[in-house]
This record gives sequence, C-alpha cells and structure tokens, in this order.
Amino acid sequence: MARTFQTVGVVGLGTMGAGIAEVFARAGLRVVGVEVDAQALDRGRGNLHRSTERAVSRGRLSQDERDGLLARTTFTGELSDLGDADLVIEAIPEVMDYKRALFADLDRVCRPDAVLATNTSSLPVTAIAATTSRPGQVVGMHFFNPAPVMGLVEVVRTVVTEDGAADDVAALARRVGKTPVIVGDRAGFVVNRLLFGYLNHAVTLLERGVAAKEDIDTAMKAGAGLPMGPFTLLDLIGLDVSHEVCEVLFQESRDRVHAPAPLLRELVTAGLLGRKSGRGFHDYDGAAARAAAEPAATRRAAGAAAGAGGRLGVASVHVFGEGADDLSSRLSAAGFEPGEADEADVVIALSGTPVVEHAARLPRPERLTGLHLVGERVAEVVSTVLTAPEAARAVADLVKVLGRTPVACADRAGFVVGALLYPYLNDAVRMYDSGYASVEDIDTAMRLGCGYPAGPFETLEAVGLRTVRDGLRALYAEYREPFFAPTPLLDRLVTAGVTSVGER
Ligand SMILES: NC(=O)c1ccc[n+]([C@@H]2O[C@H](COP(=O)([O-])OP(=O)(O)OC[C@H]3O[C@@H](n4cnc5c(N)ncnc54)[C@H](O)[C@@H]3O)[C@@H](O)[C@H]2O)c1
Repeated sequence: MARTFQTVGVVGLGTMGAGIAEVFARAGLRVVGVEVDAQALDRGRGNLHRSTERAVSRGRLSQDERDGLLARTTFTGELSDLGDADLVIEAIPEVMDYKRALFADLDRVCRPDAVLATNTSSLPVTAIAATTSRPGQVVGMHFFNPAPVMGLVEVVRTVVTEDGAADDVAALARRVGKTPVIVGDRAGFVVNRLLFGYLNHAVTLLERGVAAKEDIDTAMKAGAGLPMGPFTLLDLIGLDVSHEVCEVLFQESRDRVHAPAPLLRELVTAGLLGRKSGRGFHDYDGAAARAAAEPAATRRAAGAAAGAGGRLGVASVHVFGEGADDLSSRLSAAGFEPGEADEADVVIALSGTPVVEHAARLPRPERLTGLHLVGERVAEVVSTVLTAPEAARAVADLVKVLGRTPVACADRAGFVVGALLYPYLNDAVRMYDSGYASVEDIDTAMRLGCGYPAGPFETLEAVGLRTVRDGLRALYAEYREPFFAPTPLLDRLVTAGVTSVGER
C-alpha cells in the first residue's frame, strides 16, 4: 500500500531547502527545517518568511494561508528532531563528503521506515544511499530553482531503490502540485544532461569564432524560441556551477562535448562567475568590460555584424537559392532594385549549405553573403572567408528592413541555430534510445525544468526528422565529432519514413 507522508524534514535551508520547505508547508504537510547553527537557522527562517511575504504581496498566497504555513513549520539545529519524519530531504552544499556524513547521521536518527531523499544536482545518489543501512529507501528528489515556482521534480531511483519508494515520492510530488518524472541514477539526470551539453557547445562555438555571444543569444532566443540565450542562462546559473556540472557529466560520459570549454574555465579562474559576481559572459556592472569575455577571432567576425558602421550604399540586390523569388519581391517592395549576379551591389545566397561553394563560382565573391531564415524573426547572415565586411553589413541592414533580426555568423555547418539545436535533439533521441527515460518524460522535463516552449521530441517533429538528420550529418562531416553523428534510431526512423519518435 502506498505510504502517506505527513511530516517532512528538510536539512539545509539555503536557496533550495527554504523553497522546498515552503512547497511542503504550503501543501499542508508538517515541516521540520534543520540547519547547522543558530545563525544559519535565522537565515533559513528569514528566507522562508521573505518568500512567503512576497507571495502574499503578489496575491499568490493569502495572509491566513501564510500564517498556517508558518505554524506548520518548525526550525531546529538538532537532527534528532527528525525522529518523527516520514521523509527527509537533504539540501546541503554539493559536496559528496558532507552528504555522505549527513546520510549516515540521518540513518541513525530517522525511523527505519522513513524515506531519505537528496536534492543533489549531479552527485551519484547510489553512493549517498550506500552510506545508510537502508539504501532501498533512499532516492533523489531533484527540485528546480526557485522550488516554489518550478513545476518539475526529477525523482531518482537507484539500482537498489526498493519497489514503491520512488513511486510514493513521485505521488507526494504530485500531491504538492509538482510534476514528477522518475529516472535512473545517471549524471545530470534528464534536464542537466541535455541542457549542459547544449550550453557547453555554445561556449565552444564562441571560442571557434562562429559568432559573437550576443548573436548566439539572439539566435537561440528569437530564432529558436528559447526563454533566453545560452550565455545569459550560463551567467544566471553561475559559471562555477556550470563548469562543475560539465565536469561531472564528463567524468561519467567521457564525451568531449561535456568537457568544460576552456573559456568557461578561464572565466571561472578570473572570478567572472556570471550575474552573482557582476560579470561573466555578459557585463552586469556597466559597459566597460563588455568585450573582455570574447575571443579576438569572434570580435573580428562580429565586425561584420549589423550596425557596425560603414553602411554600403546598396541600390541593387541579386538573390538566388530556395525562396529567392519571394525575398526578391519583398526587397523590390522595399525599394531595392533586382540586379544580375555579376553587377549587383550585393548578392544573397539563400542557403543552408556551405555558402563558400556558391562564392567560388561568382565573378565577385566578396559581394556574396549567405542568408538563412530562422523562424519568423531571425536571419543568419553568413560571411565566407571571401565576403567583404561591408557586404555582410549591408545584408544585415537589409534583413532589418525585412523586419528580422540579423545574426552574423561564419560559414560553418548548421550556422548557429542548427549547430546548437540539432545535437541537443540528437542527444534527447540517444537518451530515449538508451532506455533511460520515455519520450513523454524527456519532453515534460525540458519544458518544465528549463521553461522551454516545447520538449525536444516536439521540436524534432516540428523541424522534421529528416531535416535534423541531414543537419547532423553535415555537422558530423565538418567536425568529425561522434556526438554529432545522427543516432542510429534517428537514421532508421528517417529511412522508414516515420515522422515521430517513440510511443506518442
Ligand atoms: N541552487 C540551485 O539552483 C540548485 C538547483 C537544484 C539543486 N540544487 C542542489 O541543492 C543543494 C543545495 O544547494 P543550494 O543552492 O540550496 O545551497 P546553499 O548554499 O544555498 O544552501 C545550503 C544550506 O545548507 C546548510 N548546511 C550545510 N551543511 C549542513 C548540515 N550538515 N546540516 C544542515 N544544514 C547544512 C548551509 O548552512 C546552507 O544554508 C545542492 O546539492 C545543489 O546541488 C541546487
């Protein structure tokens, strides 16, 4: 019979613990919050008081509900006060030695039938469970920040977790208004595994000088429809935390895409940790040091970006490639004359393949710029090694006339959006194919854990399996990175003419 949890202990009342305590107390459970000393206890109590005060002032909680919530919550410095708890959730710092010592203590003071859970983001739950005499009753319960707001909880079942324990914890997560997904004990679980592969890859694109960080952020936000660009997100998470998560992923996967990008390490070593230190990839203190986090090669590539000055007086434009007629007529309507390839002021290749292949066939290749439309709002403006910076700037200006935001980038497979999106989708297919999680759980996890408008399988279907497979083949052919090779499942589905993955 499924157990009912009435009293929940939360150990560590920092950023996550205070939020987790609030989630349970709001849902009517009794909560016992534990901290290391009186000062930390005051801080933890303060966190909960402030957060619930804010919720009242924003109309998300009534004063009566807040009073009830606080009355159900007790604060203590003694672990032995957890003797009555049905479930204890640990949210102390991400250091294995601390967690193991704590779980050995919890095992002594808690009832033998109590479930012990860790909120760890990246440490193996199995190794934490092994310090107790009840490894079958130990699970991961991974909340997202801020816990009262974020809907997802990853419930982690290890190979020794007893039948029912993870299901009972998942049922509790549902009871307190969260959506649980039950997964196995692999580094990064679903969300961090998929998210950090993508974020680290964005840093690699920046290092390679494919595009400037602002352009990459714009491409993924306005072009791919994500809530924020990868560098804004990295700064928000913290570059030290991000570096550590990538390192943990790499230790397990031994895949180069998880090895923290050298630029990430350099920024962390320099103390540029993101928002919390005032500067990371972006500068939150002022404009002075804005360019510092960017390699010189990228700054040069960005010289061709929109609005960099020195506009070309463009009167005539020649467009070729898929969709050329439509673009030509829109440019004509905006006052630009159509011109022949050998005499137009600029030549635009609407192309998803290497633009330089077209340039090599033109009499004046310096006038050729590639253009790749992404969604409704963005156009990637592609400079080859032959493109004159003035030509790329002129095309960026034309793009603005057409109501799109230009993203300046180098002539590399996938440009920016494809290079970041396709390997992420491929990784999701790989995760599903390995039996780690279902299509539905992976989609749910990415939607709720990252606030993405769609899960990776929904995006894959929207973009088209064949387009993604072909994009991955191009990326693999260019970089020879095994991670970019289409997973055999994706390849087979495309060959079979199937348009969706899995059981949906
Ligand atoms: N911050 C996030 O975005 C986030 C998201 C998901 C998961 N996590 C995970 O949650 C855990 C906590 O992270 P956080 O950001 O809340 O850390 P934090 O530093 O804000 O809070 C940790 C708290 O634990 C207390 N503490 C330390 N040792 C203790 C002990 N032995 N007994 C009782 N309290 C103790 C500290 O005083 C501190 O208040 C980590 O495992 C982290 O990986 C964090």
